[in-house]
Amino acid sequence: MATTETDQATFGGTVEATVEAQVETVERNPEGYLGFKLGEFEFSRDDYFVYISWPTGSHVMSADTFLKALQRDVAWEFFYGIVNFDGVIGTVNHYGDVDLFAGRYNDGWRKAELDHLENFPTAHIKATFEAMLDDWTNEGFDPFASPDETGTAFGPKNGSNKAAITRHRVTAQRMVGVPGDEGLRSDETGHTVNRHFLDVPQDEPEIHAEQGFEGDVAAFNLFAYLSRSDVTWNPSVVAACKDSLACPTTEEYILPIIHGNDRVEWFVQLSDKIIWDVEDRDTGTVRAKVVMKAGDVCAMPADIRHQGYSPKRSMLLVWENADSELPALISSGKLPTYPVDL
Ligand code: PHB
Ligand code: FE
Repeated sequence: MATTETDQATFGGTVEATVEAQVETVERNPEGYLGFKLGEFEFSRDDYFVYISWPTGSHVMSADTFLKALQRDVAWEFFYGIVNFDGVIGTVNHYGDVDLFAGRYNDGWRKAELDHLENFPTAHIKATFEAMLDDWTNEGFDPFASPDETGTAFGPKNGSNKAAITRHRVTAQRMVGVPGDEGLRSDETGHTVNRHFLDVPQDEPEIHAEQGFEGDVAAFNLFAYLSRSDVTWNPSVVAACKDSLACPTTEEYILPIIHGNDRVEWFVQLSDKIIWDVEDRDTGTVRAKVVMKAGDVCAMPADIRHQGYSPKRSMLLVWENADSELPALISSGKLPTYPVDL
């Protein structure tokens, strides 16, 4: 399959990538799934598992864990820094090209010198990942949904779920609700209040703008907006002020990736509770366990990786700084890996 595309980065700047993206497939296996090749990496799946191999090793992951991570890597245009699918496989975003790695950020694989890393133009890896996500996602399985709100990822190939895997990604240019920008959610737009948020008030603020400023003053009920999210672990840009992006999200069960930071990010727990495992970004050594309850604020340093556990659906505000100069300033030591001196 050859596609020519221009990628619109969903978090950082705009990635202009016009390339011939060649997706290399392997014929369908007895379970009905295509195989994929990306450089020297090979990917296949069967009823329960995804198998990944490279010249010096191989790895196996549960199909549902893999698809949930793959969905986010694709939808977030490879996100900020590192998206670990688990402790072995993942991607590093260089904002224009992307590393695919196996064992690179795992002390055991590194010391055994069996880790592997290849770099691809963003459009090439994205086209391959999109084709894999499409072929391996069965009818009734929604990789963005909580386990309680979706069908199974398992079994032989059974249809597809294109609507779920190509959802509109909310990226407000100014703010949700501003004329011409991302709209509010309602029953009419197909966003019903989630079962865990039935107690969230749905009233909207009154706006009394000075004459002539009607198009410039906006306000909305963020809690009501979030109560109507139909996805989990999927930060949306609901407000942007230059590089400062407010990316709230609703969470339930486990963040399907382990995010390795290339900059500091702030978390504000808006409701309920999330437990975070924090590890050294490069080795996976345990650094901290953070329990965040409603009202708690924390900053994740730029040299860690983290994965969250949300016992019930909860609301989290992720505050990102999209300044494209940050990764180099931090890795060269010109900026610290932490946000404030107390
Ligand atoms: C993160 O990696 O910081 C992250 C990703 C997705 C979420 C929340 C946090 O839903
Ligand atoms: Fe993160």
